[in-house]
Amino acid sequence: MNEIVYFDAAASFLKPESVIQNQADFLRNRYANAGRGVCARAVAVDDMVAISRKRVASFINATESQIVWTANATDGLNRIVNIIARNFIMTDFSVAVSNLEHHSARLPWQDAITNKKIKQLSVYDLDDDFNIKIDSIPKTDILVITAMSNVLGMPQDVAEIIRVARHKNPNVITIVDATQYIVHKKIDVRAWDCDFLVFSGHKIGADTGIGVLYIKDADKYMPDKFGGGMVLRVDDNIPIWNNAPDKFESGTLPLTQISGLAVAIDELEKSRPDLKLIQYMYDELQKIKRIKILSSRDAAVLSFVIDDMHVLDFGTLAGANGICLRVGNMCASWIHHAMNIDGSIRVSVGPWNTLADANKFISVVKKIIK
Ligand code: ALA
Repeated sequence: MNEIVYFDAAASFLKPESVIQNQADFLRNRYANAGRGVCARAVAVDDMVAISRKRVASFINATESQIVWTANATDGLNRIVNIIARNFIMTDFSVAVSNLEHHSARLPWQDAITNKKIKQLSVYDLDDDFNIKIDSIPKTDILVITAMSNVLGMPQDVAEIIRVARHKNPNVITIVDATQYIVHKKIDVRAWDCDFLVFSGHKIGADTGIGVLYIKDADKYMPDKFGGGMVLRVDDNIPIWNNAPDKFESGTLPLTQISGLAVAIDELEKSRPDLKLIQYMYDELQKIKRIKILSSRDAAVLSFVIDDMHVLDFGTLAGANGICLRVGNMCASWIHHAMNIDGSIRVSVGPWNTLADANKFISVVKKIIK
C-alpha cells in the first residue's frame, strides 16, 4: 500500500492478489461467453460460472438455483421491487423500512409510494443505541432489514426480526441488505428465513460489477428482465422461461467478476478484517476531547464527528496526510438525521491494515485537530 493507509474497506475492499491473478488469467487464457457456446472453451466458462455460483451458495447456506448474479447490492435492491411487482398486486401492500437503511434499500420504496405503486410506507423504530427495536416491527406486507448499518457497523438480530415479522404476518416478504454484515460475519439464509438478500462483491474483495441476489422461492417468481439466456423457447408470443436462476439472468454476465468472486470469498473466509484495530483506535480517539464517537466499541466501523470541524475538511486533511477514509452522509441520510448531524467520519478496516496504520491514523488526527 505504498505510503497511504487505506481505511475505507466499507466503501470498497482492496483486492487480494489471488483475485487479481484469477481475473487476469481468465481474461488472458480462458475467456469466452457463457451459456451460449458449445466449444470446449465456452463449456469451461459455463463450468466456471456454475462453480462460482456453488461457492456463493455454500457461503450463505443457499442452493445454486437461489443465487442470481446482479451488478451490485443497489441493482439487487432495485430489482427486488420489480420482481415483487411482477408477481403481486403491490398497490395494496404496506412496506416498512428503518432509519438504518442505505439509500439503495429505501429509495426504491420511496419511489414506489410516490408513484402510488404501494399503499403505505412506514418507518419502524430504532432504540437509543440506533439498533433495530424488535418490538417496533410492524405487521406489514414487506419488511426491509439492514443487517448492519454502513455508518454504525452493528450486527442486527435478523433471525429474530424476521421471526417477529412472520408472527405478525405469516406472508410477509422480507428483504435483507447484507452488504456490510457479510464482510464480518457468517450468514445462513436458512436460519434467517429471509425471502430476499443482497450483497456486493466489491465489498468483500471481488471486482466491481458483480453482486448477489438471493431469492428463497426463485422458482416461483416471474423474471423482471428480458433478453437472451433467460428463455427456453419462444412459441410465437408465448415465451417459456428457463428455470431459476437463469430466468433472472438475461444478457451476457460479468464473467471475469464472477470468476474472481469465488476466490474473494475463499480469501475472506481465511481472513476477515481484524476489528481489534477498530477497538484500539476507538480507545485512543476517546481520549481526545473534541471528538464525539458515534459507533460502539464493538462495532465493525469507527464513526465520529469533531467539534467545530466539518467532516469534509477533516477528510480532505486526512487524505493529504495519507489516510483514505470516508466522510459525509455515507449514502445513509436517515441515520444521520436521527443522530441530528449532517455527516460523519468513518474508519473501516480490511485484512491488510496493521497496528502501524492505526498509530499513523491517530497521529494524523492529533495533528489535524491540535
Ligand atoms: N455504501 C458504501 C459505503 O458505505 C459505498 O461507503
